[in-house]
Amino acid sequence: MKVLMINGSPHVNGNTYIALHEMEKIFTEENIETEILCIGNKDIRGCIGCAKCAETGKCVFDDLVNETAGKFEECDGLVVGSPVYYASANATLVAFMTRLFYSTHSGMPIASGQYWNGIHGAASGEAAKDIEGLQMMRTLARNMAFLMKSIALGKEKYGIPEREPFARMNFIR
Ligand SMILES: Cc1cc2nc3c(=O)[nH]c(=O)nc-3n(C[C@H](O)[C@H](O)[C@H](O)COP(=O)(O)O)c2cc1C
Repeated sequence: MKVLMINGSPHVNGNTYIALHEMEKIFTEENIETEILCIGNKDIRGCIGCAKCAETGKCVFDDLVNETAGKFEECDGLVVGSPVYYASANATLVAFMTRLFYSTHSGMPIASGQYWNGIHGAASGEAAKDIEGLQMMRTLARNMAFLMKSIALGKEKYGIPEREPFARMNFIR
Protein backbone atom coordinates (compact mmCIF):
# COMPACT_ATOMS: atom_id res chain seq x y z
CA MET A 1 0.00 0.00 0.00
CA LYS A 2 1.46 3.34 -1.02
CA VAL A 3 0.68 7.03 -0.69
CA LEU A 4 2.10 9.48 -3.19
CA MET A 5 2.62 12.92 -1.65
CA ILE A 6 3.00 15.92 -3.92
CA ASN A 7 4.76 18.98 -2.53
CA GLY A 8 3.80 22.01 -4.62
CA SER A 9 6.10 24.39 -2.76
CA PRO A 10 9.31 25.66 -4.35
CA HIS A 11 10.90 25.21 -0.92
CA VAL A 12 11.88 21.56 -0.66
CA ASN A 13 12.04 21.65 3.16
CA GLY A 14 9.62 24.53 3.83
CA ASN A 15 6.31 24.69 5.69
CA THR A 16 4.44 22.50 3.20
CA TYR A 17 7.09 19.83 3.62
CA ILE A 18 6.74 20.03 7.43
CA ALA A 19 3.00 19.31 7.06
CA LEU A 20 3.55 16.47 4.60
CA HIS A 21 6.30 14.95 6.73
CA GLU A 22 3.98 14.96 9.78
CA MET A 23 1.55 12.83 7.76
CA GLU A 24 4.38 10.66 6.46
CA LYS A 25 5.34 9.64 10.03
CA ILE A 26 1.81 8.32 10.64
CA PHE A 27 1.73 6.44 7.33
CA THR A 28 5.01 4.76 8.30
CA GLU A 29 3.50 3.75 11.67
CA GLU A 30 0.57 2.30 9.72
CA ASN A 31 2.95 0.29 7.47
CA ILE A 32 2.04 2.38 4.44
CA GLU A 33 4.82 3.24 2.01
CA THR A 34 5.23 6.90 1.06
CA GLU A 35 7.00 9.00 -1.53
CA ILE A 36 7.20 12.80 -1.35
CA LEU A 37 7.63 14.34 -4.77
CA CYS A 38 8.69 17.99 -4.77
CA ILE A 39 7.41 19.57 -7.96
CA GLY A 40 7.28 23.25 -6.94
CA ASN A 41 10.92 23.89 -7.81
CA LYS A 42 10.55 22.47 -11.35
CA ASP A 43 9.75 24.27 -14.58
CA ILE A 44 6.23 22.93 -15.31
CA ARG A 45 3.97 24.49 -17.89
CA GLY A 46 0.16 24.39 -17.97
CA CYS A 47 -2.25 22.32 -20.09
CA ILE A 48 -2.92 23.62 -23.62
CA GLY A 49 -6.08 21.53 -24.09
CA CYS A 50 -4.77 19.87 -27.29
CA ALA A 51 -6.36 16.52 -26.25
CA LYS A 52 -3.44 14.57 -27.76
CA CYS A 53 -3.31 12.65 -24.48
CA ALA A 54 -6.65 11.04 -25.36
CA GLU A 55 -4.87 9.36 -28.35
CA THR A 56 -1.46 8.66 -26.87
CA GLY A 57 -2.17 8.26 -23.16
CA LYS A 58 0.49 10.81 -22.26
CA CYS A 59 1.03 14.55 -22.29
CA VAL A 60 2.70 16.16 -25.33
CA PHE A 61 5.05 17.96 -22.94
CA ASP A 62 7.30 15.10 -21.91
CA ASP A 63 8.40 16.15 -18.44
CA LEU A 64 7.84 15.29 -14.78
CA VAL A 65 4.08 14.92 -15.43
CA ASN A 66 4.64 11.89 -17.68
CA GLU A 67 7.31 10.55 -15.32
CA THR A 68 4.80 10.71 -12.45
CA ALA A 69 1.83 9.21 -14.35
CA GLY A 70 2.76 5.58 -13.58
CA LYS A 71 3.28 6.31 -9.88
CA PHE A 72 -0.01 8.18 -9.77
CA GLU A 73 -1.93 5.32 -11.36
CA GLU A 74 -0.40 2.76 -9.02
CA CYS A 75 -0.69 4.60 -5.69
CA ASP A 76 -3.47 3.80 -3.24
CA GLY A 77 -3.68 7.32 -1.87
CA LEU A 78 -2.70 10.80 -2.93
CA VAL A 79 -1.85 13.80 -0.76
CA VAL A 80 -1.47 17.17 -2.43
CA GLY A 81 0.30 19.88 -0.41
CA SER A 82 0.41 23.51 -1.43
CA PRO A 83 1.52 26.81 0.07
CA VAL A 84 -1.25 29.43 -0.15
CA TYR A 85 -0.45 31.90 -2.92
CA TYR A 86 -3.05 34.67 -3.04
CA ALA A 87 -5.75 32.53 -1.42
CA SER A 88 -5.18 29.65 -3.82
CA ALA A 89 -2.90 26.72 -4.51
CA ASN A 90 0.37 27.79 -6.09
CA ALA A 91 0.39 27.94 -9.89
CA THR A 92 3.10 25.33 -10.49
CA LEU A 93 1.10 22.79 -8.52
CA VAL A 94 -2.12 23.56 -10.41
CA ALA A 95 -0.29 23.25 -13.76
CA PHE A 96 1.15 19.91 -12.68
CA MET A 97 -2.08 18.42 -11.34
CA THR A 98 -4.17 19.64 -14.28
CA ARG A 99 -1.95 17.88 -16.82
CA LEU A 100 -1.53 14.78 -14.65
CA PHE A 101 -5.27 14.27 -14.13
CA TYR A 102 -6.20 15.02 -17.73
CA SER A 103 -3.52 12.87 -19.37
CA THR A 104 -3.92 9.77 -17.19
CA HIS A 105 -7.73 9.34 -17.27
CA SER A 106 -7.16 7.14 -14.28
CA GLY A 107 -9.99 8.33 -12.09
CA MET A 108 -9.17 9.63 -8.65
CA PRO A 109 -7.09 7.52 -6.30
CA ILE A 110 -9.05 6.01 -3.48
CA ALA A 111 -8.12 8.58 -0.87
CA SER A 112 -7.07 12.13 -1.32
CA GLY A 113 -6.07 14.72 1.21
CA GLN A 114 -5.50 18.34 0.43
CA TYR A 115 -3.54 20.75 2.52
CA TRP A 116 -3.98 24.42 1.74
CA ASN A 117 -1.68 25.79 4.40
CA GLY A 118 -4.07 25.04 7.26
CA ILE A 119 -0.85 25.16 9.23
CA HIS A 120 0.03 28.68 10.26
CA GLY A 121 3.51 29.73 9.37
CA ALA A 122 4.61 32.59 7.20
CA ALA A 123 8.34 32.27 7.73
CA SER A 124 10.03 29.12 6.58
CA GLY A 125 10.05 26.47 9.30
CA GLU A 126 7.40 28.23 11.43
CA ALA A 127 4.87 25.50 10.73
CA ALA A 128 6.83 23.23 13.07
CA LYS A 129 5.54 25.36 15.99
CA ASP A 130 1.86 25.05 15.04
CA ILE A 131 0.75 22.22 17.32
CA GLU A 132 -2.88 22.40 16.17
CA GLY A 133 -1.98 22.31 12.48
CA LEU A 134 0.41 19.42 12.99
CA GLN A 135 -2.27 17.51 14.85
CA MET A 136 -4.63 18.07 11.91
CA MET A 137 -2.04 16.54 9.59
CA ARG A 138 -1.63 13.48 11.81
CA THR A 139 -5.42 13.04 12.09
CA LEU A 140 -5.78 13.36 8.31
CA ALA A 141 -3.12 10.68 7.81
CA ARG A 142 -4.79 8.32 10.29
CA ASN A 143 -8.15 8.81 8.59
CA MET A 144 -6.60 8.20 5.18
CA ALA A 145 -4.89 5.03 6.42
CA PHE A 146 -8.23 3.80 7.80
CA LEU A 147 -9.97 4.55 4.48
CA MET A 148 -7.30 2.89 2.36
CA LYS A 149 -7.31 -0.24 4.50
CA SER A 150 -11.13 -0.35 4.55
CA ILE A 151 -11.28 -0.04 0.77
CA ALA A 152 -8.67 -2.80 0.37
CA LEU A 153 -10.85 -5.07 2.53
CA GLY A 154 -13.94 -4.05 0.58
CA LYS A 155 -12.23 -4.90 -2.71
CA GLU A 156 -11.37 -8.37 -1.38
CA LYS A 157 -14.94 -9.00 -0.27
CA TYR A 158 -16.96 -7.34 -3.03
CA GLY A 159 -14.55 -6.69 -5.92
CA ILE A 160 -14.37 -3.32 -7.65
CA PRO A 161 -17.54 -1.71 -9.06
CA GLU A 162 -18.36 -2.31 -12.73
CA ARG A 163 -17.11 0.54 -14.92
CA GLU A 164 -19.17 1.81 -17.85
CA PRO A 165 -17.43 2.66 -21.16
CA PHE A 166 -16.06 6.20 -21.04
CA ALA A 167 -18.51 8.81 -22.34
CA ARG A 168 -16.72 12.04 -23.20
CA MET A 169 -18.51 15.32 -22.67
CA ASN A 170 -18.26 17.85 -25.50
CA PHE A 171 -16.87 21.00 -23.88
CA ILE A 172 -18.09 23.19 -26.82
CA ARG A 173 -21.80 22.39 -26.67
C1 LIG B 1 3.43 34.75 -4.07
C2 LIG B 1 2.99 34.42 -2.65
C3 LIG B 1 1.65 34.61 -2.30
C4 LIG B 1 1.21 34.30 -1.00
N1 LIG B 1 -0.11 34.47 -0.69
C5 LIG B 1 -0.55 34.12 0.56
C6 LIG B 1 -1.93 34.25 0.91
O1 LIG B 1 -2.76 34.64 0.11
N2 LIG B 1 -2.32 33.89 2.16
C7 LIG B 1 -1.41 33.43 3.09
O2 LIG B 1 -1.82 33.09 4.21
N3 LIG B 1 -0.09 33.29 2.78
C8 LIG B 1 0.35 33.62 1.55
N4 LIG B 1 1.69 33.48 1.24
C9 LIG B 1 2.62 32.93 2.26
C10 LIG B 1 2.89 31.42 2.08
O3 LIG B 1 1.69 30.71 1.87
C11 LIG B 1 3.58 30.87 3.35
O4 LIG B 1 4.79 31.55 3.57
C12 LIG B 1 3.80 29.38 3.27
O5 LIG B 1 3.99 28.87 4.59
C13 LIG B 1 5.02 29.00 2.44
O6 LIG B 1 5.13 27.58 2.40
P1 LIG B 1 6.51 26.87 1.97
O7 LIG B 1 7.51 27.16 3.06
O8 LIG B 1 6.19 25.41 1.87
O9 LIG B 1 6.91 27.44 0.63
C14 LIG B 1 2.15 33.81 -0.04
C15 LIG B 1 3.51 33.62 -0.42
C16 LIG B 1 3.92 33.94 -1.70
C17 LIG B 1 5.37 33.71 -2.08
